[in-house]
Amino acid sequence: MVNTSIEFAPISGALGALVTGVDFASELPAESLKALQEGWLKYQVLIFERQELTNQQFKSAVRYFGEIEIHSFIGKLEDDDEIEIIGVTKNLEWAPPTNFYHIDVSMQEIPTKGAALYAVDTPKAGGDTIWVNAYAAWEALSDSMQQFLLDKKGLFIGLHRKALDGIIRGGQKTHEIATAFLQNPSEHPKVHTHPETGRKALFVDELFMWSIKDLNFDENDAICSFLFKHISKPEFQCRYKWRAGSLAIWDNRCTLHRRVDDTNSRRIMHRLPIRGEASPES
Ligand SMILES: [Fe+2]
Repeated sequence: MVNTSIEFAPISGALGALVTGVDFASELPAESLKALQEGWLKYQVLIFERQELTNQQFKSAVRYFGEIEIHSFIGKLEDDDEIEIIGVTKNLEWAPPTNFYHIDVSMQEIPTKGAALYAVDTPKAGGDTIWVNAYAAWEALSDSMQQFLLDKKGLFIGLHRKALDGIIRGGQKTHEIATAFLQNPSEHPKVHTHPETGRKALFVDELFMWSIKDLNFDENDAICSFLFKHISKPEFQCRYKWRAGSLAIWDNRCTLHRRVDDTNSRRIMHRLPIRGEASPES
């Protein structure tokens, strides 16, 4: 495959596009890169199929979107200290249950800008990924609910009860990391403004969001339940069935995602996070 004119085919009405005309095994011309970066902001999730990439080519592809971030709590490939391996592997040191809607590392003061998954070994069926358009989730709220949320802050922490399962399975190193996150929770606004598009997006996370500040227990429980139900509406989603050689790169500043846990078959993905540039601002 060679780099030809780039085309974007939306995979749902909400977000996500299959991209053709790109081969990351060779260098991208400047006009292609510009089209890709514009397409990323527009579609939020870009998927490139039939990519045969070495580790270096995978990293080069991701660097078109930003710098690579290192997450010390996720196991890496034996021959590479940057590329994470997600799946059944002895290198797995921390396994948050990513079958909950989440924003990657939202418990960090500066969450990642985006992330990339490269499918290496995929089940015949199952193990899809769902992404959620956080702009659409915000825009679908009533004016009254938007007003209520505008000045609210959420507390994000790696020890949320839904993240605990992975932490318990992860052993001593995981415990040390989880304790560090416990001591340093992050506060983020419930709605933030994307630094490049200027659009507002809901910043709600079912996996790492502990609570909404200034609400009492029952209020917090009720509002969080509503928000978690809201972000799971299919109208805000796209869903992708993986095939080996598919590469997805998403904007973590305006999406959530989750794995669909409907298979026990082998599912090996290589992952690279993209370094965040700023804390979410409303
Ligand atoms: Fe994730």
